[in-house]
Amino acid sequence: MKNIYCDISATTPLSVEVAEYMHQIQMKVFGNPSSIHRFGQESKAILEKSRRQISTALNCSPGEIYFTGCGSESNNMALQALLKPGDHVISSSYEHPAILKTLDYLESNGVTVSRIKPNSNGIVTCQSVETAIKENTRLVSIMFVNNEVGTINPIEEISLYCRDNNILFHTDAVQAFGKIPIDMTEIPVDLLSLSAHKLYGPKGVGALFIRNGTGIDPILFGGGQEKNLRPGTENIPGIAAFGLAAELSQQNLSDIAHQIKNLTDQFLDILKENGLDFSQNGKNTIPGVINLTFPNVDAQTLVMSLDMAGVAVSAGSACSAGTVKVSGTLVEMGLNREAAACSIRISFGKYHTIEDIEFVAGKICDIISKRQGING
Ligand SMILES: Cc1ncc(COP(=O)(O)O)c(C=O)c1O
Repeated sequence: MKNIYCDISATTPLSVEVAEYMHQIQMKVFGNPSSIHRFGQESKAILEKSRRQISTALNCSPGEIYFTGCGSESNNMALQALLKPGDHVISSSYEHPAILKTLDYLESNGVTVSRIKPNSNGIVTCQSVETAIKENTRLVSIMFVNNEVGTINPIEEISLYCRDNNILFHTDAVQAFGKIPIDMTEIPVDLLSLSAHKLYGPKGVGALFIRNGTGIDPILFGGGQEKNLRPGTENIPGIAAFGLAAELSQQNLSDIAHQIKNLTDQFLDILKENGLDFSQNGKNTIPGVINLTFPNVDAQTLVMSLDMAGVAVSAGSACSAGTVKVSGTLVEMGLNREAAACSIRISFGKYHTIEDIEFVAGKICDIISKRQGING
C-alpha cells in the first residue's frame, strides 16, 4: 500500500546525504572532543566544522552557535538563563510547549509573564508587543514561525523595536530555519533556537544562537563544554549531521520553497474543484504548511481514516505525547473549539511530488465528500 508522509512540521525524514555522513562519522570517529590527543582533536574538528556550517547558513559568527540536545532545550536555556525573579517577559500564547511550560515554571518563581494572543491571521504584531512593555521587561520571546499554522511573525520589526528599547529578544526559529532565509546581520535577534530534525537532519540535536556580548549564565552544570554554557560530551555524529543538513538546506532554498508552494496551490485547487467545504487557517505562511478546517468532520477521526488510507497528517501538533486535545494555537487565534476540533495540519516538504499531492488530495476528497454528503 502507498504511504505518504505529510507531517513535515512534526519532523522530517533524514536526507540520504546526511544519513550517510552521520553513519560514516558514527563508525569512524569516536574520540572525546575535549581530549587533546588526535582522536579527540578529530572529533573537535568535526564539531567546529558543523558550527561553521550552521553559522554560514545564518550569516553569523561560529562562536555564536552553542550546541544543545534539542530545540526544547535551547528554548529552556534562553528563558531560564536570562530571567530572574522580579523580571518581566513578553511572549505569545501560541508558542511551543517548550516555551509555554518554561514560562509557567518561571512565573511560579517570581517572573511576571505577559502572553500576547496572535491575531486571527495567526500573526503576533509588533504593536501588540509594544503595548505589553513594562519598566522591568527584560526579554521578549516570540516564535519565528508557528508550528501548527506555519505563519511567519514580523521578527525583524519586533527585534528592531526591542533593540531600540534595550530589551533582549529571543525567537524560537525551529520551524523557520532551512525553510525561509534568516540573516543574523539583518535582524538584531539576541538569541535564536534551532533543531536539526525539522530540516532533514537527525532528532536529538539542537543549537542556540547567542549574539556575542549577550551576558548569559548556564542552567546546567558540569564540564566546560560549549564555553561553559552547555555541559556534556558532545553528540558528534548528530552535530556533524546537523551541520550538513543546515548547509544543504541553504542550497536552492528559494527554488525549493517555490516548488513546495506550487504543490500546495495545486493541492488546494483539487480540494476546491471537488467542492469540499473547508477554510484555511493562517495567513503569510511558510510554504508547505496547510491548516484546514472541515466543518463537522472530527479531526481525530479524519487523521485516523487518512492513516488507514495511507496518508499521514496531524490534528494539532505532534508534541502532546499522543494525547487528544484541541489545538491551542487555533483557539488562541479566535477559532471556536468546535472548529478547532475539525482542523488538521498537512505539511509538505522537498521530497513530495505532484503524484503524492494528487494521491493525498484524492484520499481527502473521498473521505470528506462522504462525511459532507457531496456527490462526486
Ligand atoms: C516551534 C517549535 N519549537 C520547538 C520545538 C521542539 O524541538 P525539539 O523537538 O528539537 O525539542 C518544536 C518541535 O516540534 C517546534 O515546532
